[in-house]
Amino acid sequence: MSQWQPDSWRQKPILQQPTYHDQQHLKDVEQKLKSYPPLVFAAETRQLFKELGQVADGKGFLLQGGDCAESFDEFNAPKIRDTFKVILQMAIVLTFAGRCPVTKVARMAGQYAKPRSGDFETIGDVSLPSYRGDIINNFEFTEAARTPDPQRMLDAYHQSASTLNLLRAFAQGGLADLHQVNRWNMAFVENNPLKERYQDVARRIQDSLEFMDVMGINTSNTPTLHETSLYTSHEALLLNYEQALTRVDTLTDKWYNCSAHMLWIGERTRQLDHAHIEFFRGIHNPIGVKVGPTMQGDELIKLIDALNPDNTSGRLTLITRMGADNLEQNLPALLRRVKQEGRNVVWSSDPMHGNTFKASSGYKTRNFDAILREIQQFFAAHRAEGTHAGGIHLEMTGQHVTECTGGAYQIGDDDLAQAYKTQCDPRLNADQVLEMAFLVADHLKVG
Ligand code: PEP
Ligand code: CO
Repeated sequence: MSQWQPDSWRQKPILQQPTYHDQQHLKDVEQKLKSYPPLVFAAETRQLFKELGQVADGKGFLLQGGDCAESFDEFNAPKIRDTFKVILQMAIVLTFAGRCPVTKVARMAGQYAKPRSGDFETIGDVSLPSYRGDIINNFEFTEAARTPDPQRMLDAYHQSASTLNLLRAFAQGGLADLHQVNRWNMAFVENNPLKERYQDVARRIQDSLEFMDVMGINTSNTPTLHETSLYTSHEALLLNYEQALTRVDTLTDKWYNCSAHMLWIGERTRQLDHAHIEFFRGIHNPIGVKVGPTMQGDELIKLIDALNPDNTSGRLTLITRMGADNLEQNLPALLRRVKQEGRNVVWSSDPMHGNTFKASSGYKTRNFDAILREIQQFFAAHRAEGTHAGGIHLEMTGQHVTECTGGAYQIGDDDLAQAYKTQCDPRLNADQVLEMAFLVADHLKVG
C-alpha cells in the first residue's frame, strides 16, 4: 500500500463533494484553516479511544447523538444547552437503570456536511445544486445560496469552536453536577408521561449521593460527581476541511484529525478504493463507519481490515443502519462472521437512517415504533449471537420539535407541521429521546 499523507486521498476517486468554482479561494481558505488552532487535543481523543476499547470488550455503552445537520442559523446557547442536557439525561438513565458505564459522544461542533441522494434538486422547472450542509452552501433555493462557497469552512470552524467552548463549560463548570440533576430535569420532564419513572431514577440517585456523602465521597474529593465528559463527532465528509485540521500530535508523533474526537464515514462514501477510506486509514482517532442493509460479510471484513489493520479495540465502531426488519434479516450473519474472524469492533445501532419515509403531509419523517423495533432487533441479534450490543446513534435534539411521528405523545402526520425545523433528516425530540432511553435501559439490564 502506498504511503499515507494527509493529502493522499486527493489521488483517489471521491463522491459527494461540492464543485468549487474559485480554486484559488479554496486554497486560500485551506491554508488559513491549516494555521488555526486544533479544536480538540489528541490526548482527549486517546481517552475516548480507551473508553471505546472498553465498549468493544463488552464493558460499556456508547451513546452518540445530535442533529442530522447543525445549522448556522439555529446557532444559539439554549439549543446547545438543551441538546447537552438531553444527552446527559439519557446517559443517566442508561447508566443508572441499565447499570452500565456510558460514553457520551455528541453529533455537535462540526456536523455540517451532508451527503445527498442527488447532485441537483428540481422545483418546478428550476434545477439547482443540492443543499450539502452549511459548511458548503445555503439551504435557500436560489442560485446564489446553493453555490458552494469555501468561506463557509471558516464559518463552520468558528461555530464549532464556540459550540465546543460552551459544551466544555457545561461539562466541567457544574451544569452536569449529579447533585443538580434533580433540579434541572424537572422542568424538562414536566409534561412527560414518563415523569414518574424519571423522578424515581432521580430520587434513587439522590439517595445514593446522600449515602456516599455520609461515607465521605463528595464533589470535593470525587470530580466525577461534579463533571462529565462529552466528546464530539461528525461525518468527515468534506475532506478539504478535515485535512486542514489534521495535525501531528507532539506527544506521540502521530497524525490526528483535530476537528473532533471521533469521525465517521457515511454509507455513501465507504468504497474501499476511494478517498474517504484512504484519509481515515491514516488518522489515529477512533472512527466509525456506517453499515447499510446491502453489506455482505466479505466486504465488511475487508472494510474492517482497511480501517483497523492492527485490530485494536476502540479504533473502529460499526454503525448499522439497515431499517427495522432488514436488520433482523441481515445483521446476525455479519455478527457471526466478525466474531468468527476475531475482529474487535464496537457495534452500534443507528435506527434512524433506514426508517425514513415521506408522510402523506409531504414531510420526511420517521416513526418512533420503527426506530424502537430496529433497536430491539439489534439487541436481540446480539443476545442470540453472544456479541455485545455496544451503542446507539441517534438523530435527536433537546428542543420540542415535531419531526418524528409516534412516541408517548402520539405525534401524528398532521402534527408534523407544528414544529418541523430540521433542514435535513427528522430528529427525535426531547420527550421521545427520554422515552427511548428507558426502553433501551431495559435491554441493557437484561444483556
Ligand atoms: C447521517 O448520519 O446523517 C447520514 C447521512 O447517515 P448515512 O451515511 O448512514 O446515510
Ligand atoms: Co441524517
